[in-house]
Amino acid sequence: MDIILFGPPGAGKGTQAQKLSQKYGIPQISTGDILRANVKEGTELGLEAKKYMDAGELVPDAVLIGIIKDRLLQPDCENGFLLDGYPRTIPQADALSKILDEIKKPIDIVINIAVPNEMLVKRLSGRWMSGCGASYNVDTNPPKAEGVCDVCGDKLFQRPDDTSDAVSNRLDVYEKQTAPLIDYYKEKGLLKDVDGTKDIDVVFEEIDKIAAPFK
Ligand code: AP5
Ligand code: ZN
Repeated sequence: MDIILFGPPGAGKGTQAQKLSQKYGIPQISTGDILRANVKEGTELGLEAKKYMDAGELVPDAVLIGIIKDRLLQPDCENGFLLDGYPRTIPQADALSKILDEIKKPIDIVINIAVPNEMLVKRLSGRWMSGCGASYNVDTNPPKAEGVCDVCGDKLFQRPDDTSDAVSNRLDVYEKQTAPLIDYYKEKGLLKDVDGTKDIDVVFEEIDKIAAPFK
């Protein structure tokens, strides 16, 4: 199963990718997570990326194309992969299809998780993260103990780009640079829409129904 989870910031790409990854044993490739890991480790890439990320801007295409190419060539992608947060521009999508042509692993389906803007803002401002990658929401998906991760017990934190200024810029950037990919994948007959406003488990059921035939 070679799948793209697509949608605006806060749509639930990461939440759903994690559940699919657990169910089918294939890697979740989140370019946001890869970049944040580099920021945390203080790599050259991380230092360069941080200024874009904190402002809610996209990191330049050339950087992302390099990252995704390296990642897709890793052996754990041989049985499939879930892309979460990539591609986000037409040049990134073109580069992806070139890479996948070379390794003869075409995209099976692009799942577009649709959620209106007011709900996205609410979700992002209520999001709390754990160092282990788990994500919670004070309103819709709270941890069992306040401020502590259910999975690893670490203290939860907020992402620096979940401040209100960065969130509103991320939504603008999505509209201008990323939303055109909806038509791009529609024209290729690959796009499937999912209503992302429902409960996490209901959304998952719907996504799983679409994904399962590609197992
Ligand atoms: P990235 O990490 O990809 O952020 P994003 O796309 O803005 O998406 P999020 O992770 O914020 O949201 P999500 O859709 O995964 O939702 P989640 O499941 O967490 O990118 C960050 C930055 O890195 C970018 O701004 C850019 O600078 C850079 N970057 C990354 N990739 C790049 C690329 N390809 N090109 C250039 N730059 C790149 O859910 C959100 C919240 O809602 C959580 O609290 C969750 O618990 C809750 N929630 C989820 N689903 C539901 C539901 N159904 N009901 C109720 N609550 C829900
Ligand atoms: Zn954890």
